[in-house]
Amino acid sequence: MILKGKHILVGVSGGIAAYKSAMLIRELIRRGAEVQVVMTPMAKQFITPLTLATLSKHPILVDFFDPENGAWNSHVSLGTWADAYVVAPATANTLAKMATGIADNLLLTTYLSARCPVFVAPAMDLDMMAHPATRLNLLTLQERGVVVVDAAEGELASGLSGKGRMAEPADIVLAMQDYFSRTEGLLCGSRIMITAGPTYEKIDPVRFIGNYSSGKMGYAIAEELASRGAEVELISGPTKFSVQSSLIKLTKVESARQMYEAALRIFPTCHAAVLSAAVADFAPAECADEKIKHHGEMTLHLVPNPDIAAELGRQKTASQTLVGFALETNDEMHNAQGKLQAKNLDFIVLNSLADKGAGFMVDTNKITIIGADGEATEYPLKTKVEVAADIADRLTDTMNNKQTRE
Ligand code: PMT
Repeated sequence: MILKGKHILVGVSGGIAAYKSAMLIRELIRRGAEVQVVMTPMAKQFITPLTLATLSKHPILVDFFDPENGAWNSHVSLGTWADAYVVAPATANTLAKMATGIADNLLLTTYLSARCPVFVAPAMDLDMMAHPATRLNLLTLQERGVVVVDAAEGELASGLSGKGRMAEPADIVLAMQDYFSRTEGLLCGSRIMITAGPTYEKIDPVRFIGNYSSGKMGYAIAEELASRGAEVELISGPTKFSVQSSLIKLTKVESARQMYEAALRIFPTCHAAVLSAAVADFAPAECADEKIKHHGEMTLHLVPNPDIAAELGRQKTASQTLVGFALETNDEMHNAQGKLQAKNLDFIVLNSLADKGAGFMVDTNKITIIGADGEATEYPLKTKVEVAADIADRLTDTMNNKQTRE
């Protein structure tokens, strides 16, 4: 939501990737931004102004003057209107002119007048992309603070294959969101650790003790906190998910012991931690070196795993916030309150497998947040992304309260 209400100027220069600027405009508008488009004269050969005007709900700006009525398209007011200027696609020609300050079209004069952050998404053939001149131009722009959303590798319009494809519109939007999260997010300047997913406790080279956690809840919390500007340390058990935001640093682990060691190393550098992982309570006392053969009945000797939440609860300082989860099937409130106290948490997020649509694997969850004072707030069934936002709201309040008390 960090782009909501932002004025975003999209600059389209003349390359085959110009068709993707239509998707970029839609993505920005979907996130609540107001969009105006400035095109180079050449860009009109690749996508019609009508398409982009319809999507952006504003007339497209190409010339310094409207030839019909002589009205002046002021690059200065465009530059001051914009909260962000994104040139996508940025051809080798446009990048070279931006780097050297040439101002022979409206897109370029607007760039020179812009006071806002500028993003460029290069798009060109692989040899142009690799040419020292282009590389130097990109470096020059980067040194001046322009954010380069790097081109991707793949099939190019020339039929060749290599680096030069414009980044996907969703990735350009993500880079812009990350930029504004880092500079304007409510959690800017804070570091937050998240644990997510299951742990696997090895029995032998082919078997393990695990659980049904997919990691969806934990990854949603990590993305939500990053979108609010927090630097996130995500410690994840085995899951199929990857992280989107560049503010998230991912540490992959497999067992509870590995998660415990990573958490103990990272937590002292953080302002808060949210422990959403479903950590196995027990692990086999020994892992067999070879696959255990079938000999009829078998007894597995299990030993308790370290309790990460309880240990962090012992170590946490007065300024750190510690949040746990409770996954219950019965006596929910009683059990969750017991965990809240035993693990010295600031609040606990209760979810129960007795509630339809809550808990493991599903896209939704139904939570109750119980504070350190015992007060419980129930939330309706929501998507895990929405639940993550509720948890992030509560975490932000708790962290702020601690700060004002300091
Ligand atoms: O991953 P998904 O499919 O999206 O599912 C989400 C979820 C159901 C896994 C998640 O919402 C959830 O409830 N996570 C906590 C699961 C759990 O292990 O709960 P618990 O009640 O057993 O543990 C209580 C707290 O202690 C948790 O914060 C847990 O991370 C922590 N713990 C538990 C055991 C242990 N050895 N170390 C711990 O830190």
